[in-house]
Amino acid sequence: MDVLRCFVVGCVAAVAATGAVAAVKRQIVVQTDETGLVFTVGDNGRLYQSYIGKRLANAADYANLTGGTEAYITHGMEDYFEPALHINHADDNPSTLLTYVNHSVTPTDWGSRTVISLTDSIYGDKVDLYFDAYEKTNVISTWSEITNGGKSPVEIEKFASSMLHFDAPAYYLTEFSGEWATEVRPGTQELKFGKKIIDTKLGSRANMQVSPFFELGLGSPASEDHGEVLVGTLAWTGNFQFCFEVDQKGGLRVISGINPYFSRRTLKKGETFKTPEFIFTLSENGVGEASRDLHEWARHHRVKDGTGDRMTLLNNWEATYFSFDQDKLISLIGEAKELGVDMFLLDDGWFGTKYPRNSDHQGLGDWTEIKEKLPDGIGRLTEEAAKQGIKFGLWIEPEMVNPKSELYEKHKDWVITLPNRDEYYFRNQLVLDLSNPAVQDYVFGIVDGLMTKYPDIAFFKWDCNSPITNIYSQYEKGHQTQLYVDHVRGLYNILERIKEKYPDLPMMLCSGGGGRTDYEALKYFTEFWPSDNTDPIERLYIQWGYSQVFPSKVQCAHVTTWNNQSPIKFRVNVAMMGKMGFDINLHDIGEKDLEYCKQSVKDYNALKPIILDGDQYRLVSPYEGNHTATSYVSHDKRNGVLFAFDIYPRYGEKLHNVKLKGLDPAMTYAVEEINRADGSKGQVKRYSGDYLMTVGLPVFSGRKLSSRVYTLKGE
Ligand code: DGJ
Repeated sequence: MDVLRCFVVGCVAAVAATGAVAAVKRQIVVQTDETGLVFTVGDNGRLYQSYIGKRLANAADYANLTGGTEAYITHGMEDYFEPALHINHADDNPSTLLTYVNHSVTPTDWGSRTVISLTDSIYGDKVDLYFDAYEKTNVISTWSEITNGGKSPVEIEKFASSMLHFDAPAYYLTEFSGEWATEVRPGTQELKFGKKIIDTKLGSRANMQVSPFFELGLGSPASEDHGEVLVGTLAWTGNFQFCFEVDQKGGLRVISGINPYFSRRTLKKGETFKTPEFIFTLSENGVGEASRDLHEWARHHRVKDGTGDRMTLLNNWEATYFSFDQDKLISLIGEAKELGVDMFLLDDGWFGTKYPRNSDHQGLGDWTEIKEKLPDGIGRLTEEAAKQGIKFGLWIEPEMVNPKSELYEKHKDWVITLPNRDEYYFRNQLVLDLSNPAVQDYVFGIVDGLMTKYPDIAFFKWDCNSPITNIYSQYEKGHQTQLYVDHVRGLYNILERIKEKYPDLPMMLCSGGGGRTDYEALKYFTEFWPSDNTDPIERLYIQWGYSQVFPSKVQCAHVTTWNNQSPIKFRVNVAMMGKMGFDINLHDIGEKDLEYCKQSVKDYNALKPIILDGDQYRLVSPYEGNHTATSYVSHDKRNGVLFAFDIYPRYGEKLHNVKLKGLDPAMTYAVEEINRADGSKGQVKRYSGDYLMTVGLPVFSGRKLSSRVYTLKGE
C-alpha cells in the first residue's frame, strides 16, 4: 500500500499543533533527487510539516499539500505529546510559541541548504531549522540553532536537532544494540500508541549499549529491497536520544537529538546553541538502497579522507597484549613487511615512567615511553619501519587516566569524579574533563607532542574505554548539567585542532570495540574499530549491522586468533569485506597459512577500490540461515567481487543460488573464483548480467566454515 503522508485541511484536529491551515501563506520544499520534505506556513504564522516522502514528479503538485502537524513542537502550548523544544524563561514562563520569520534556500556543491527562521514574538527566542539536501545521494542532514533573543538568560531543557512527522498504517522500528563484543544486534518492533525511546547516558564511550542509528519501516517492516524505510543517524559522540511517539490519531513523531537527560543549560542573552546533525535517507526500495546512499554520502561528504585510500596493517594487540619489548616489536615490523601490509600499528602498553603500563591498571595519562621496554623510544620503531619501507602507527587513549598515574597525582582537578564519594572505575580508569580548556590543551598536546618528536608517526589508533562515571566537574562548578554536552564539545575542539594541524594524518576511532561510531566523529577519523570481537562468525553479523549505515571503507576488520578453529581462509575472507588488517602472531599460524595470508593481501589490494568505494549489496543475510553473501560493484558496473560464506550448514540442506544485484543486465561478466586456500586458479565462466541477477550462481556449499571469493569482470 502506498503510504500517503500529506495532511489535508479538515482531516486534522482543530488545535494549533495539529491544526488545519485555512489559507496557505507560504510553502517550503526541501528536495533531493528522490525525497521531498514540505513545510507550510499557516495563516496563524506557525510552521507545519505537510509532507515527507517520495519526491513528486511535478513540482506544482506540492501546492496541494497543505496543513499538517506543527513542525517543531514547543513545550507549554496546545500539543500533549513530547515537544522538540523546551525553554524556561526568566519570568518563570516555561512556554515558547514559534512563528515563521523568513527562510532562505541557497544552492550548494551538493544540492541546497534551506534555513527556516522562527521566533517567539513575546520572548524573542529564535529557532533556525537547517536542512542540507544532498541531491544525488538522497541524504538530508537537519539540525536546529536556538538563540536567546530576549533580554535575560533562559534555560533550555529540551533542544532537539529534528522533529519529523509520519502518517503510515504501521511503523516498524529497528534499533542496533548490544554491549562489548556483541555490538549492533538488530531488534525490530512494531510501534503502537505511546513512546519508545532509544538513548544512552554513558557520556563517553557513548554507543557501548546502542548505536546512534535506526531504521524505520513505514507501512511494513524494513526489508533489504522492498518497502519504504527511513534510515537515520545522529552525528553526536555523546548521549543521544531518539524518541518515537505514536499519537492518538496514529501519527508518528520522531524527535532526534542530544539526550536531554541531565543536560539543562543556560543560554545568555544573544547566545546560540547549535544542535548536532540528524542525518537521514528515505528509500522506497528497502534498506539496501538506503545503505548504499548513506555509504556514498559518507565517502564524498563526511568521513575524513573519505575518497582516499586506506592502509592494510599488522597490529600487535592480540599478538602480544602488554608483553613486548623493542626487539619483539622490531621483529613484528619485519613480519608486517613480510606479510606485505602497509603499516605496523603499536597498541597499548608502551608508556608510563613512574607507573609503567604493563597492565590496564596503571600508567594511562603518562605518555612517555617505558624505558625498560623501549630503551630507544618510539624513534627506534619509526626508523625500523622506514627501513622496512612500511608506515608506523601508534595507539593512544588520551582522554582517560588511571588513578595510578602521575597525571592523576598532579591533576586530580582535571578528572571527572565526585569530590566526596568513593570513585568508581570502569576498566580501572576515569575520564578526563574535556569541558576544561586546560585539559583540551593537554590532550591536543599529546598528539602534537608525539608528532613533533616523531614526525614519522603515520597513523593513530585513538581509544576510549570508559563511560563517564561519578559525574562531577571541577571546571563546571555551578553548571554540572552542562558537563555531558560540554565534554563532547571539548572533544571536538581537540579533534578540530588536530585536523587543522595534521590534515593528512589518518586515525582510527576505537572505543573498547565499537563504543563510538557516529558521523560527527568520522569527520576527524578515517575509520573505526567495530568490535573487539573478531571471531569471524560474529564479525559477519557485526559488519552486517554497521553496514546499514557505514561503508566498508570505515570498518576495520582484522584477522586474529578469535575462533581459530575456523580456517584461516574464512577469517581472512571476512576481514577482506572491510578495511583489512591482521592482529596475529604470524609465525604461530604455520607456513601454509602464512603464504595464504600474503597472497590475500595482494588479492585484497587489487580488489580494494571495489570493496571500499563500490556499491555494497547485502545478498543473503546471516540472520536468515546458515549462509551469507555480500557483493561490491564498481559504479560503472564493470567490476564486482562476491563473497560467499557457509557458517553451519545442516546435513543434506538444500542450497539455493545466490542472485547478484546491481550489475548491467546486458553486459557479459567473466566470473572467476580467486583467493583459493590451495593457491589454485578457478575456472573462468561467462554469464550475462541478466543471468547472474535472475538465475544466480551456486556459490554456497555444505561445508562448515567455508568461504569463497569471486571476481566479476565486465567484457
Ligand atoms: C580496547 C580496544 O578495542 C582494543 O583493540 C585494544 O586497543 C585495547 N583497548 C587496548 O587496551
